[in-house]
Amino acid sequence: MYSDDAGLIEEIMRLKEKRKAILLVHNYQLGEVQDIADYTGDSLELSRIASQTDSRVIVFCGVHFMAETASILCPDKTVLLPDINAGCPMADMINAGGLRALMKEYPNAPAIAYVNTSAEVKAEAFICCTSTNAVRVAESVDSPEVIFVPDKYLAHYTSSCVKKKFIIWDGYCPTHIKIIPEDILRERALHPQAEVMVHPECTPAVAALADRVVSTGGMCKFAKESSAKEFIIGTEIGMLHRLRKENPDKKFYPASELAICPNMKRINLEKVLWSLQDMKNEIKVPEEIRLKAKSSVDRMLAVK
Ligand code: 13P
Ligand code: SF4
Repeated sequence: MYSDDAGLIEEIMRLKEKRKAILLVHNYQLGEVQDIADYTGDSLELSRIASQTDSRVIVFCGVHFMAETASILCPDKTVLLPDINAGCPMADMINAGGLRALMKEYPNAPAIAYVNTSAEVKAEAFICCTSTNAVRVAESVDSPEVIFVPDKYLAHYTSSCVKKKFIIWDGYCPTHIKIIPEDILRERALHPQAEVMVHPECTPAVAALADRVVSTGGMCKFAKESSAKEFIIGTEIGMLHRLRKENPDKKFYPASELAICPNMKRINLEKVLWSLQDMKNEIKVPEEIRLKAKSSVDRMLAVK
């Protein structure tokens, strides 16, 4: 038993050293988990770090598909997800059979799979993307038409920036759809000087009201570089912790307090400690699927 967080954190750090582990933490995680991270980032940044690390163990504080991507890239490492039930409902909206059927219907359209998909779906796709690089990935595909799965709103936003025909799957993020246009209008009225940044998983009606549509990594970058002093943030509220920590002289307001991803919030300090103690909840992808999924992820990582 630990009487306080300090004792718990000390034990996590001791075990991290002993296991030669690295702690990768997504921008939506609880503040207490972000604060002990080796790296905090968006899904693209964390995939890149996973692919380059020398650590033997990766403790992935995020959701299942993120840990799976790390395992696809680093089969010789032990990838642990501190809560095995931390899934992504959007990723569960499509399976390999569904994508195969769509590819049969549109045989000339290469498939782009958002990283928020299972390894099996990535294995069927031609290339992956994240919300950071979706536009660049879509541009890089040498075809006038592409399939885009599973997020219809990211697909909609990406298609508005790229001159290609998009064949779109009907998936969405249950957290981001909780942000509605009225939220942006209300917050703008309350904070008229603020810049509005929203994630491309938001609905087109919300994106249309924003100053910027950016990934979580893009939000961090812009908040730092901008001369604006106030920002309205349309994404999962965990994002606010990092933005406030890195920009203590600026103000950040959530577009909606309802934008909470319950799966991201499943991981806490105790679960990080237990995963290091017991080395359980390992995420491993069968080799045949891993190799196919890896070509889609590698193609994405090669896009500049
Ligand atoms: P980022 O790629 O912006 O980190 O987003 C991942 C995600 O799950 C958003 O809901
Ligand atoms: Fe999935 Fe949405 Fe949660 Fe991101 S915020 S992990 S897309 S459910």
